[in-house]
Amino acid sequence: MNRFMREFIQTTGELLESEQVRMMGRWNHHGPISTLDHSLFVAYLSFRAARALGLDERAAARGGLLHDLYLYDSKDKSAHPGWQCFDHPRAAARNAEQLTELSDKERNIILSHMWPLGGPLPRSLEAWLVDLVDTICAGLEVSRIYHPARLRKRLGVQPLAAVPG
Ligand SMILES: [Fe+2]
Ligand SMILES: [Fe+2]
Repeated sequence: MNRFMREFIQTTGELLESEQVRMMGRWNHHGPISTLDHSLFVAYLSFRAARALGLDERAAARGGLLHDLYLYDSKDKSAHPGWQCFDHPRAAARNAEQLTELSDKERNIILSHMWPLGGPLPRSLEAWLVDLVDTICAGLEVSRIYHPARLRKRLGVQPLAAVPG
């Protein structure tokens, strides 16, 4: 583990250990990639990019980690009211709110991450950054260029197993 990874863990510490975040390992997001692996990938790259650009690295890391905390199977039509593209950022913000105290910036990062497809406009450079990093990570995952489970293992994050039955 490198210095950046240790600092990322310090920044997101209690979130990484939470049941809600580790529960994202139960559902797949892009093909065979779990929502947990994708969210860690987005959070870590956003953290690194925010640092390189002199932005708020804590908001970028936390917003990135929680942006897809919707906690249901996106293929299950009964799990959310309408179109996943619109619904999941709102569900993620609601769940994140219960888990930790979100700043206004962090809340907007979560709600705006699907812009321009859905949700409000990104209102900070960090929100624009996470929106862009999310798109890049999704591209790398879908094209199988990078499998972020490698990063999760290096960070030592354990997915929470599904409850049997
Ligand atoms: Fe998303
Ligand atoms: Fe995402």
